[in-house]
Amino acid sequence: MEFTLRDYSPSDFETLYEIDQACYPRGIAYSRRMLRWYLSQRGSLCIVAHATGAAEGALQGFLIAHASRAEGYIVTIDVQEAHRRSGVGTALLQETERRLAKMGVRYVGLQTATNNEAGVAFWVRHGYRSTGVSRGYYLGRIDAYEMFKELHQPRRPATA
Ligand SMILES: CC(C)(COP(=O)(O)OP(=O)(O)OC[C@H]1O[C@@H](n2cnc3c(N)ncnc32)[C@H](O)[C@@H]1OP(=O)(O)O)[C@@H](O)C(=O)NCCC(=O)NCCS
Repeated sequence: MEFTLRDYSPSDFETLYEIDQACYPRGIAYSRRMLRWYLSQRGSLCIVAHATGAAEGALQGFLIAHASRAEGYIVTIDVQEAHRRSGVGTALLQETERRLAKMGVRYVGLQTATNNEAGVAFWVRHGYRSTGVSRGYYLGRIDAYEMFKELHQPRRPATA
């Protein structure tokens, strides 16, 4: 594995913004204001993947999620193009789901554009299922799948 995960730190902000601008089309990528807003919400969780070895420290991707009681929400997952299909997205998602479950989250939702083939394949691969389509969710003209997954709760130690 040429990357490792850690929690977001405020000094990552500008890099996260640049990665997000590169990952999504104009109008769908977040403004700095929106990104800051999501990161500052109570119950928000942001994990970053950074390189180990020669490129030590360079950010390869990140995931922002939000937890509110039993409901979790994936705000965004962004992996730099050069680092895709190497398991970075999977590692970010698995760690996020683990943390959300520990926080008591049972259901995780998200939206993804119906024309985002990589995104849809990624979510399906990880057990997310479409519960419907929001017409014109992005920019009033791009449809989005509403996707959903039920998490398994972490096992509690058996009591005697
Ligand atoms: C979607 C995204 C996060 C996937 O990240 P990643 O690090 O490349 O994902 P992984 O390497 O962990 O892929 C896991 C599995 O997802 C599926 N998958 C990922 N990208 C895929 C693609 N382009 N085509 C088909 N399946 C894909 C595959 O099943 C893959 O397993 P495999 O490589 O063994 O076949 C990444 O493509 C990305 O950041 N895209 C731009 C932003 C975006 O669209 N985010 C999701 C929408 S909310």
